[in-house]
Amino acid sequence: MRTISLSIAAVCAGLATAGTLWAGPDTVTLPENYQATFVNYLDVDRFDRKRVRKMYVNPDAHAAANAGDDLPGGTILIMEDHDAQTDADGNLQRDGDGRLIALDPVTNVFVMEKNGAWETDNGNWDYAWYLPDGTPKPDADFAGCFSCHANRSERDYTFTYWKNVSDQAK
Ligand code: HEC
Repeated sequence: MRTISLSIAAVCAGLATAGTLWAGPDTVTLPENYQATFVNYLDVDRFDRKRVRKMYVNPDAHAAANAGDDLPGGTILIMEDHDAQTDADGNLQRDGDGRLIALDPVTNVFVMEKNGAWETDNGNWDYAWYLPDGTPKPDADFAGCFSCHANRSERDYTFTYWKNVSDQAK
């Protein structure tokens, strides 16, 4: 319950400072041109959702991240969703390696950013959700971001990146 009450506090902080409903996109901006400038460290095939998720990290943080340590302040992680290619019957198609094939259009962009100046319940992380045109998703639920990512507190609140750093170091 602690997570939920704190994220409500974050929403109120957003209201007080910017007059908008959600705190996330006020603090966590969408980095311009991230597809060209960030490192695409992993692609996750979600067969259950017929979706490919492309994961990016900013290069400065990637260079500073050490296996087993908390991630550096200033880390920005982006998860970019794409629908996966299907045939006319809706069956998922695979490439020669058995991986799903991402269609070009981006369907949603999720951002999490770590900043020591932000007091959140998730180790200085805050969250934002953007639509493909780069505008904040109007009805986004940020309490869900906090509570679900809290399940990975031992991996600095990340599902894939902390583990990726550790795996790369092996
Ligand atoms: C129900 C659980 C759940 C919720 C709610 C959730 N996430 Fe995640 N998130 C995941 C999982 C699991 C992954 C790993 C990718 C996968 O398996 O789909 C992930 C991955 C990410 C990543 C890539 C870095 C990492 O941790 O691997 C970002 C960025 C992210 N989520 C942002 C968000 C944002 C922003 C929200 C809220 C709008 C959110 N998430 C809500 C479960 C969740």
